[in-house]
Amino acid sequence: MWSTHLRNAVTRALLPLSWRIDSQHAARTLKRFSEVEFDSAWQYLNALGHTRVPKMQLMLFENLLEEMEHSDGFLEVAHKLARDRLQGGSGSRSVLVKSANDIHYFLAFAHESEKAICAQFNGYARACSHLPAAAEVFRGIAIDEEKHEREARASLLAVVGSETIVRRLVWKVKFKKAYASWLRGSQHIGDAIFTLWLGAVYLLFGPLLRSYCAARLTKSTQVQVAEPAQNPLRPTLES
Ligand SMILES: [Fe+2]
Ligand SMILES: [Fe+2]
Repeated sequence: MWSTHLRNAVTRALLPLSWRIDSQHAARTLKRFSEVEFDSAWQYLNALGHTRVPKMQLMLFENLLEEMEHSDGFLEVAHKLARDRLQGGSGSRSVLVKSANDIHYFLAFAHESEKAICAQFNGYARACSHLPAAAEVFRGIAIDEEKHEREARASLLAVVGSETIVRRLVWKVKFKKAYASWLRGSQHIGDAIFTLWLGAVYLLFGPLLRSYCAARLTKSTQVQVAEPAQNPLRPTLES
């Protein structure tokens, strides 16, 4: 929860200025959200093919339609703000449901993800109040996401029939998400340390190598001027 508050505080502090300075940056961010929403719709559609529970099928179908609407809403406002052409998305996707056994975990995952995205969108709605069209899209979608969050939990409880199992699955999702973000964070830290090392090596050895290389270069140029290379194919004056 603290990470959501921290992220919203950073968004609130930085977004108004960065989006005011560069509307193309705002458009690109909104387009990325559109792609995330489209991916959510795809995940609901995919999950739909792995369950035979009519009530859950209906919930998944309604949610996928709403996610498609969210995707369209973000894309529309992105194009309104864009100054230049918007590039296509990455196209990569990790499939959350591969068999009927994954449905319970998927519902727990949907519950947690919808909760996080709802908090994030409310944060964005407050941060971009200077762009009323975008703020309205964020606010409207956050209401749907809150509904998806509740429905995913209710569906999970209906199929597993135990609050304890629901809580256990939700904790499993929390743990996996925390582990994934720790991995991402440690990779960034590793990259930063590697960059610092390279910088230090360059600063320490750069001046020494520079004078050594300059001396070698001058010497080889002098040798070439003194003894020009003979081209065997070139006819000599005597022949
Ligand atoms: Fe959505
Ligand atoms: Fe959603």
